[in-house]
Amino acid sequence: MAELPYWKTPLVEGCYMVGQRHAKSLLQCNTYLHTFRSKGGEPFHWCIDPGSQVDYPHIRKHLKELISDLSTIRLFSINHQDPDVVGNLTLLTRENKEMAGLTTEDTWRLVRHLRLQPKKMYFANKIGRNTVKLPTGDRIQVVPTPFCHFRGAVAYYDPERQILFTGDLFAGLNIPGRMQLFGDEEDWPGIAQFHQIYMPNRAAVAFAIRQIQALRPPVKIIAPQHGFLLRGDFMHKVMERLLRLPVGMDLLAKEVDERYIRIYNDIFGELLHLANERLGKEKVFEILFTLPRDHELKRCIRAGKDRFDLVRNGIHALPWAIDVLSQGQPDEFATQLKSLVLERCIKRKAPLPQLGIGIEGTRR
Ligand SMILES: [Fe+2]
Ligand SMILES: [Fe+2]
Repeated sequence: MAELPYWKTPLVEGCYMVGQRHAKSLLQCNTYLHTFRSKGGEPFHWCIDPGSQVDYPHIRKHLKELISDLSTIRLFSINHQDPDVVGNLTLLTRENKEMAGLTTEDTWRLVRHLRLQPKKMYFANKIGRNTVKLPTGDRIQVVPTPFCHFRGAVAYYDPERQILFTGDLFAGLNIPGRMQLFGDEEDWPGIAQFHQIYMPNRAAVAFAIRQIQALRPPVKIIAPQHGFLLRGDFMHKVMERLLRLPVGMDLLAKEVDERYIRIYNDIFGELLHLANERLGKEKVFEILFTLPRDHELKRCIRAGKDRFDLVRNGIHALPWAIDVLSQGQPDEFATQLKSLVLERCIKRKAPLPQLGIGIEGTRR
């Protein structure tokens, strides 16, 4: 039997990816059509993230092949307000006056500037028990995923078929030519890269993933707005990896660190020089050589033939160095070391480390 094209291949019962798969694109956009049916009643067509205007001719064609008449779509939902998510709403609402919309107020406040007139709007953040009840008896569960990547972003869950539509969360860039629907290990770097660019920080991603992991019945398929759907072992691996992946602002700190590490290392050298004068070079070397294996400073310094260098995380490492060098010494010595760091950072225009100035002598 001839294989069906991807937009006619159900992901779960009644659900199809109707977006365009483009061989030359590094960012595939996914639009979904999910249809609920009840005995004897009208089918309820739901369009998730109607997508980019660039793709509209393809999306329209795929939708028409599946449901013939675009005016039978009853509901659209949007994860957030980006043009690759909402662009087609202007075109779709022109062809369909009966369609209602579902999103958060925070998203709609911005999208309404497209002068859209849906039949009715349902606000995901106002829905009791986070559940939309459909005329077919089915339910759509709203799963807030704040700041992933917009404040009002929200995922939508069909608990019956265990498929979760997550917008940009779990989305990925792709290697050109990889156009299949489901992702595997080869697609992880593109997923990681996408999150590093578009997600604000690890805490926001982790918060969202914890909500998703707590869903019952558990999620079987994650359907993002770009790239590949996730399922099985790979889906769980991606969730676990994203819980730990530094993204957005987390990387900004790293960039700052890379820019200033040479200056911090010079200051570290001066700090050791001052400590040598006070404690003796042998004692200073002994302190640094015998740092416990899990001490944070140990990961930031490198021992050379006759010297130590600061090689990473300078902004945090300098206060740690002051702590270890001044241990057991009178407060006045720690103050001297802090003053030196403060003065040099200001002189060389490097961001100031948190030195705890003014709380000397406080037990911590
Ligand atoms: Fe987006
Ligand atoms: Fe997107």
